[in-house]
Amino acid sequence: MDAFVIQGGTRLRGEVEINGSKNAALPILAASLLTDEECVIRGVPDLADVRHLCSLLESLGAKVWQDKDKALHIQVEEESHCLADYETVRRMRASICVLGPMLARRHRAAVSMPGGCAIGDRPINLHLRGLEALGAKLAMEGGNIFADGQHLEGKEIFLGGPFGSTVLGTANVMSAATLAQGETIIECAACEPEIVDLGNFLNAMGAHIHGHGTPRITIRGVESLSGADYTVIPDRIEAGTFMIAAAISNGELTLKHCRTEHLVAVIDCLNTIGVDVERAEGAVRIHSARRLHPVDITTQPYPGFPTDLQAQFMTLLCLADGNSMITEKIFPDRFMHTAELNRMGAQLRKEGPTVLVQGVKELIGAPVMASDLRASAALVLAGIVAQGETTVLRVYHIDRGYERIEEKLNRVGAKIERVDQP
Ligand code: EPU
Repeated sequence: MDAFVIQGGTRLRGEVEINGSKNAALPILAASLLTDEECVIRGVPDLADVRHLCSLLESLGAKVWQDKDKALHIQVEEESHCLADYETVRRMRASICVLGPMLARRHRAAVSMPGGCAIGDRPINLHLRGLEALGAKLAMEGGNIFADGQHLEGKEIFLGGPFGSTVLGTANVMSAATLAQGETIIECAACEPEIVDLGNFLNAMGAHIHGHGTPRITIRGVESLSGADYTVIPDRIEAGTFMIAAAISNGELTLKHCRTEHLVAVIDCLNTIGVDVERAEGAVRIHSARRLHPVDITTQPYPGFPTDLQAQFMTLLCLADGNSMITEKIFPDRFMHTAELNRMGAQLRKEGPTVLVQGVKELIGAPVMASDLRASAALVLAGIVAQGETTVLRVYHIDRGYERIEEKLNRVGAKIERVDQP
């Protein structure tokens, strides 16, 4: 199992190219099951999660290949397979996003019910409620959800839950509704840029979707969809992670291929604590050369502060001059990183869905354990700024969502070695 050994105390400087978005690419790749024509998806990052999804698409009868420009080509050749089994879903929860496309195109789908994960329970009741409203018949057997949908019909569907809307639930219902008869209206739809990207891809395939990016999405069903050639948006969470890396190391990074309009809440928090973020044509420069102020943060659905940057920002606030408060409103248990950061000298106290962060003068290197993707990124950031050596164990979590992050960080001055840790 790989681990990172990080020599701390480096200042990051230079230019970083941000990849295409993982969370946009996954539902877009799954949506290519909606047609038997070839889809070409560009800008897909080379990540463990993407490879898992491609294997799943292959097991569902699609041919998947990469061309010399690294574009992914998907062409469905066989539509009789309809099961995303436990082995696949256990390895990657986002496998659930094949449910809507398969149901719409093949009229039946079976997906293993995802279990909980390190960041919380993660139910899929809203996905199922939405698909049922479109007319799917659902049954549960042996841990699998069987969905039958010979005649999907457009409906008005409310997708709000106790923690707001659902990103992949919106993706599933929106994808299924493209081939349903009549008009579907999704109320309380997720507004995340990744949903806008999926809607744009579906429209490029010939769907009639309006209002994606707002809480009310309208989908007029069509008979069939065609192939499309599409480029995914830049990864706002990777960009946000590198912004925090610049800030925490008192460094200066220029990010290329970064859409700052997707990061307004994060940039606002960075400005509040004293980090300079300058937007220039096609790039953004992050600069920090002073002690940082504390700030209170609450994670929220887009355009609020993203839960996927909560852990990384917590590491940053560990080193602010004073006390901050971070409240999780999306995944109230997503705090596995706090105990690990405390092992490095942080002063964090969890009270329900809130963590009180008492700023300290420095973090000190230690062996720490990654528990999920974003928590691992938070520990790598801590290692970069800590005194001495930090070993982050189980970095397979970070490989799921960041393409060769240690190489990118090392190119701008970090000292991270990937080692095989038995
Ligand atoms: N929820 C329900 N019922 C449902 C679905 C969700 O109650 O049927 C709850 C969840 O438990 C949570 C909230 O609604 O409290 C939001 O969950 P959501 O469904 O939006 O999460 P997701 O679609 O499963 C995506 C991202 C996550 C990201 C969340 C929130 C992908 C592949 N995953 O998950 O990304 O944290 O949206 O923005 O797009 C990551 O990249 O590290 C990651 C975890």
